[in-house]
Amino acid sequence: MNDQDIQNIPESYFAIDEATKVLGFTMPSDMLTCSLLRTLAASKPSGRFLELGTGTGLSTSWILNGMDKSSTLISIDNDKSVLNIAKTHLGKDSRLSLVLSDGEDWILKNINKRFDYIFADTWHGKYLLLEEVLDMLNPGGLYIVDDMLPQSNWPEGHAEKAIEFVKKLDQRTDLKLTKLDWATGIIIGVKIK
Ligand SMILES: C[S@@+](CC[C@H](N)C(=O)[O-])C[C@H]1O[C@@H](n2cnc3c(N)ncnc32)[C@H](O)[C@@H]1O
Repeated sequence: MNDQDIQNIPESYFAIDEATKVLGFTMPSDMLTCSLLRTLAASKPSGRFLELGTGTGLSTSWILNGMDKSSTLISIDNDKSVLNIAKTHLGKDSRLSLVLSDGEDWILKNINKRFDYIFADTWHGKYLLLEEVLDMLNPGGLYIVDDMLPQSNWPEGHAEKAIEFVKKLDQRTDLKLTKLDWATGIIIGVKIK
């Protein structure tokens, strides 16, 4: 088996990847993570999906590719320049709502919404407002984070933050967790109540 041998790459991915490189965006999700995101998305028919940290829409394109026709995805980012790339390439998909907002503002305004799948790929829902975002998961809902293995772009002090974050997740009695020493370091949790 070769885990790099990924089939049926979403069409929009290539154009987004190109635009991402032109923009010089330095925080894109990697292909292995994207592939896992798609597989897990396919486990939630008619699902309500949330992505915190759209970036240019790389991961978004894979999540959409795994979702069925009656699922919906809300994806949030506070940077207009990256979000515009996602809008250009994915904006026509009626299942997707792209939101230009600060993560904290959006979460606090939408605290009563519930989701079946949350990919937390920015500060909020991971290092900030973790409890609030985990409370937004339906029972059986998936919580996914990447970049949990040391990354070359981590600023000083981030490794300690990552350790604290994992400790907090480990203490939750309402999550069944698996930590994967794979890709950029993935944690998958399923909400049990
Ligand atoms: C790791 S990147 C997301 C990568 C993306 N998922 C992909 O597939 O390429 C993190 C994103 O969080 C966004 N971000 C940073 N601070 C934010 C905030 N306060 N509120 C919302 N988004 C924020 C950044 O603009 C960046 O696009």
